[in-house]
Amino acid sequence: MTEATDRSEWVRRPQAAIEGTNCTLEDYQALYARSIEDSDAFWAGQAERLDWFTPPTTVADWSFDPVSIKWFEDGVLNICHNAVDRHVAAGHGDRLALIFEPDDPQGEVRRITYAELQAEVVRMANTLKKMGVAKGDRVTIYMPMVPEGAFAMLACARIGAVHSVIFGGFSPEAIAGRVEDCASDWIVTADEGLRGGKRIPLKANVDVALKKVSAKAVLVLRHTGGEIAMTEGRDHWYHELSADVSDTCPCEPMKAEDPLFILYTSGSTGKPKGVLHTTGGYAVWTETTFRYIFDYREGEIFWCTADIGWVTGHSYIVYGPLQNGATALMFEGVPNYPDHDRFWAVCEKHKVNIFYTAPTAIRALMREGDSHVTRHDLSSLRLLGSVGEPINPEAWRWYHETVGKGKLPVIDTWWQTETGGCMITTLPGAHDMKPGSAGRPFFGVCPQLVDNEGTILDGATEGNLCITRSWPGQARTVYGDHERFVQTYFSTYKGKYFTGDGCRRDEDGYYWITGRVDDVINVSGHRMGTAEVESALVLHPKVSEAAVVGFPHDIKGQGIYCYVTLNAGEEENEDLTAELRAHVRSEIGPIATPDHLHFTPALPKTRSGKIMRRILRKIAENEFGSLGDTSTLADPGVVDALIEGRHNR
Ligand code: PRX
Repeated sequence: MTEATDRSEWVRRPQAAIEGTNCTLEDYQALYARSIEDSDAFWAGQAERLDWFTPPTTVADWSFDPVSIKWFEDGVLNICHNAVDRHVAAGHGDRLALIFEPDDPQGEVRRITYAELQAEVVRMANTLKKMGVAKGDRVTIYMPMVPEGAFAMLACARIGAVHSVIFGGFSPEAIAGRVEDCASDWIVTADEGLRGGKRIPLKANVDVALKKVSAKAVLVLRHTGGEIAMTEGRDHWYHELSADVSDTCPCEPMKAEDPLFILYTSGSTGKPKGVLHTTGGYAVWTETTFRYIFDYREGEIFWCTADIGWVTGHSYIVYGPLQNGATALMFEGVPNYPDHDRFWAVCEKHKVNIFYTAPTAIRALMREGDSHVTRHDLSSLRLLGSVGEPINPEAWRWYHETVGKGKLPVIDTWWQTETGGCMITTLPGAHDMKPGSAGRPFFGVCPQLVDNEGTILDGATEGNLCITRSWPGQARTVYGDHERFVQTYFSTYKGKYFTGDGCRRDEDGYYWITGRVDDVINVSGHRMGTAEVESALVLHPKVSEAAVVGFPHDIKGQGIYCYVTLNAGEEENEDLTAELRAHVRSEIGPIATPDHLHFTPALPKTRSGKIMRRILRKIAENEFGSLGDTSTLADPGVVDALIEGRHNR
């Protein structure tokens, strides 16, 4: 940081964040330098905090061209042992591991100690074994936000099965696609989920999915007690099947590079990809990032509002906090039920110390006014975090001033499903903040900005964000399709990992993520491929062609704008609009519901037939004054008609 820097955009880290921190600015500088200059020694040191059945003698072994990524390869460990058993063995069995806050504020809170967690995970693990699950098998978990979701993940890890968690908001179609892609014979689900007072038909969705694909067994948690169908021989109630299982189950010794989980995520083309994370590197990365980025202090209550169906829930509800022996709060509900103060009511009720949420929730709550916040005692809060999408400075300031009373650090953590854990963020005790900027690279992270031709851009600049070196938590492949992994992440700029994000770096070396530069959109922090929505639309018998783009949305960050061309003879009308919306929901899930359906007789195409998405984006953004060069269009008249009929006025 130079003297000449304009300080007006900075927000100083509070003195209280510096006192007692596990990482001061000087520490950060020294540790970061070491993580780059003496990377193996640095990561070997971090890995020592974990229990290894066989400690690794090797650290990093990777190449981005050809692509092969390995960390701690000859080490043997089990992440469930590290997240659960070792805390019990160390005498911390009475410490709280999970606090469950149900959807209904009057419902029963569950407080689960590490000893109880161990017993529950063993019970689930032995039940999975009884169903026939073996090491290496893929287990699909389609659960509500209840502790059993975490038990199921940890139970898989314990026995060496590979979990594939599917967010409870996804449709039967989406479940079927994911079950088929990883040939998962086993499904763990619940009768129903509960969110905002509404029941989510989880088991019924699984039943529909299993008309298309097969599974050997389905394990069903009784949660709401709602009516569901059980298929004889295939479906088992968890409470019945687990009734007589043994109360011991050793943790399977896993090689560091054995698969831990698959998580499906959207890209710019094709179906969602099964991003694969392995055991050792992911364990070290989530343990280390949680420890330093949230500056965790023993006894604190940490609340990440994400769902375990997303990577944020994997890394910062389950594996990061539990490996650190922390207490993680799991919340079943939504921010605005029964009222817009629910988040703050929960913070007060459980005396939450660290709160981690998404900008879309912050913006939605900000709109409802400060009184929802100010009527609660939030004095337990020490640190606020944001994740999932760029946070606009206005929302950042509201979060900092209204929720944090201007006294708490706000960390804006940039990362991705593929990165396994946080990559760019300020550290609360080390860095001053700039609203809207994620901040500085975490240990071992080497960001690089390049232009579209791949030329490296130095200093204060803006470009495409790449990472030039591997880090332990990096995804290793796309399940069953390594070539797709290589193509998607390492072919745009050879020898570098390309994130798909645009980014600015300022003169202080702070990174400002500007959003995706590919055909991926980020709707309420949920990542979605526009191609997926397009494929869903064209599956409808009346649709001939569709092009989907994002547009700025006050609450969701980005909304979904669909241009649709109908088959000859089909009429556009309100019924069809509703039908197409419902169709996309049933193909993908409610999170993909189109905001705007713009019917058009034609899409703007080049003479070679390529849809000019740049123009469609501008029109959806209401920026049709700057459409750029339209001379290559086959029929420039199409554009005027689109502007005339635009929806987002
Ligand atoms: O565009 C970036 C955005 O979310 C994308 C990753 O989405 P996903 O894999 O679903 O993981 C989300 C949770 C880690 C990124 O490519 N993104 C995530 N965090 C931020 C962000 N954009 C700006 N600022 C962030 N803090």
